[in-house]
Amino acid sequence: MPRGRGQEASTLRRVRRYHLTTFGCQMNAHDSERMKGLLESLGYAEAACRDEADLILFNTCTIRGSADERFLGNLGDAKRVKRERPDAIVAVGGCWAQSQKEEVFRAFPFVDVAFGPGEVSRLGEILARERLDAVGAFTFDGAFSGTLPAKRDRPHQAWVQISVGCNSVCSYCIVPAVRGRERSRRPEDVVAEVEALAADGVVEVTLLGQNVNSYGRDLPRAERATFAALLRAVAAVDGVRRVRYTSPHPKDMREDVIAAHAEVPEVCRHIHLPAQSGSTRVLKAMRRTYSRERYLDLAGRLQAAVPDLALTTDLIVGFPGETEDDFADTLSLVREVGYDGAYTFVYSPRPGTEAGDGMADDVPAEVKRERMQRLVEVVQATARARAQRHVGTVQEVLVEGPSRTDPSRRRGRTDHNVTVNFCGTAPAGAFTGVQITSATSTTLAGDQVGAALHA
Ligand code: 5AD
Ligand code: SF4
Repeated sequence: MPRGRGQEASTLRRVRRYHLTTFGCQMNAHDSERMKGLLESLGYAEAACRDEADLILFNTCTIRGSADERFLGNLGDAKRVKRERPDAIVAVGGCWAQSQKEEVFRAFPFVDVAFGPGEVSRLGEILARERLDAVGAFTFDGAFSGTLPAKRDRPHQAWVQISVGCNSVCSYCIVPAVRGRERSRRPEDVVAEVEALAADGVVEVTLLGQNVNSYGRDLPRAERATFAALLRAVAAVDGVRRVRYTSPHPKDMREDVIAAHAEVPEVCRHIHLPAQSGSTRVLKAMRRTYSRERYLDLAGRLQAAVPDLALTTDLIVGFPGETEDDFADTLSLVREVGYDGAYTFVYSPRPGTEAGDGMADDVPAEVKRERMQRLVEVVQATARARAQRHVGTVQEVLVEGPSRTDPSRRRGRTDHNVTVNFCGTAPAGAFTGVQITSATSTTLAGDQVGAALHA
């Protein structure tokens, strides 16, 4: 249950404009779509800036220290607004709020409302309360945000939450502490939501969870479905042309999911498969439960089963005790797998995690920085080399709108989840062929071929 303090009902009833700032992962971005949908269904309109807002809302992340710092900078701005306009309401939701619990109100007395991730449905309830004090502590409220209205930024693409929480015990990660145990949505509910989205014009769905492929194990036996079965059921919904998901855990990637990739055309040829490290010794200390060899074996089986598969990953540099040899194993993993891209992070000790509390953060900052630089170079070189295979091919692209850098060109995304800027006229939401003429490590460029399909 959320907790708030100190606002009178009269203040709350006047609140009509909100400003929302989102930090963190796609789960948070999706929760924010629900927050916006919920607020707008209650008659709130979006304000252009905090100074014009009656409700200043944050959806926070706490995955690394840098996420906390970014948010706290923004919270300082909300404090200023609150000083100038004391009747503005400051609300803080999401993972940072959950990690702080009651401490939020002690450290930041101008914060009126705080709630954890998964408590989006409580937002309306909180704002409708007579008084905001006496509202209780942080817990998950049991409602999936799939049951709430959403305001989607992209009309043809949608995120669909399939589970919340995480049962893994990765020693560096704060997510299990803030998002709790894994809870899966019933497969019928997921499919019903996808059907509704498809009826609304959505052609691409991304299934979301902290560990999507352990989906379903917590459901009662009679309702249980595997992740592979869910993928197939979602792909079979009329109107759905592309299905993606993020993120899977390598330990839970089963043969039936690999088969779904190989056999179901709607399941995209891209898997984001977080490795975190290429060193078996470090992976063990991270409690990832797989070795370098097992990860490589899995990547090889995926690449063999799904022709032209794109693999991307997450990598952490400077985990406690990481030696030069361990780091060299991460560099060689990148080359050996041949990733199409990778997110790279400097290890950040998080209070409340096994590594944060129990392992010395002993890789010097300078060494972390230098390793990060070398890793990024290898990732970029590998991705650039991989991207060249697209040059000269025709890729099917889902059009998203005008190019961000040159409005006379169009922008879209391939099956491999790569952004393409191209000359053409296809409208947003259409699928079109694009002849690829050049490639960098992160984007492709080309020319539309033929007319757009399914406009
Ligand atoms: N320090 C650095 N990176 C982290 N990640 C998670 N926790 C930490 C941490 N404490 C990275 C992992 C994860 C991604 C979402 O963030 O690579 O996959
Ligand atoms: Fe950040 Fe993790 Fe929470 Fe996502 S789940 S918002 S990455 S702390």
